Amino acid sequence: MKITVVGAGAVGATVADNIARRELCQELVLLDIKEGFAEGKAMDMMQTATLVGFNTKIVGSTNDYAKTAGSEVVVITSGIPRKPGMTREELIGTNANIVKGVTENILKHSPNAIIVVISNPMDTMTYLALKSSGLPKNRIIGMGGILDSSRFKFYLSQSLNVPSNDLHGSVIGGHGDTTMIPLTRLATYQGVPVSQFASEEELAKVAASTMVGGATLTGLIGTSAWYAPGAAGCALVESIVRDQKKVFPCCVLLEGEYGQKDICLGVPVVLGKNGWEKIIDYKLTAAEQEAFNKSADAVRNMNSVLATV
Ligand code: 2OP
Repeated sequence: MKITVVGAGAVGATVADNIARRELCQELVLLDIKEGFAEGKAMDMMQTATLVGFNTKIVGSTNDYAKTAGSEVVVITSGIPRKPGMTREELIGTNANIVKGVTENILKHSPNAIIVVISNPMDTMTYLALKSSGLPKNRIIGMGGILDSSRFKFYLSQSLNVPSNDLHGSVIGGHGDTTMIPLTRLATYQGVPVSQFASEEELAKVAASTMVGGATLTGLIGTSAWYAPGAAGCALVESIVRDQKKVFPCCVLLEGEYGQKDICLGVPVVLGKNGWEKIIDYKLTAAEQEAFNKSADAVRNMNSVLATV
């Protein structure tokens, strides 16, 4: 098993670190365009192997795609991250060209790879990777909803004062400050709806904090977050390579599911060895469906910019 992570910045390196620690593959290739950067990070991580106790071999490379040949899963994190005050959408022009080029290079050497897109604006970059690669839809997966759901459970745990791991909750829709939809109605604490433990007002606050969760961190840190995005990317890859069939909200091509088509948007999917294998298409309330449609409109708007970059 071979996995490649493209982009050795904070998010890419953290995805790689998590993958190595969990030994999801024998060989992990970390690639970056900046001379020596991926080699250095790979070496640093390899020097934790005896301390952490993993056997995955991490190979760093400055843009040599030949080294990625035969990868089963490729995670794309390349592109510029947002700075405080910036939206993910503002990155579109720069990152679209980068993601398109990376996807082409990857497929030259790993035509059978499953591609996981993390670069922002993620929903649009996933759509771009799908359209420019011509790959079957099940092999292109955008990472956003799993991260936003983890943040949702964090804020819920703070509000309810219970451990995050006793909570279930999903965020669907786009991976944007105004496009994501925390499904408060369906969130549970030990199987009991959270509405039994918190007021409507408190839950609205949790949803609002979740939606700007990434922006809050960018404001505090000065750049985009990496621990949770890295762990979320790894959890998604793990379900694929271990064929776990876990259900996570991911950005995938919709062809009528949730009332939308010709768009990549976050919905719950089963993840296994074939990539995303099935969409869990459950019924939303009228208000949730309206929010989902609005989210789709906003993402479609962004997608239309792709024609001009
Ligand atoms: C975030 O929300 C990286 O978009 C990612 O932190």
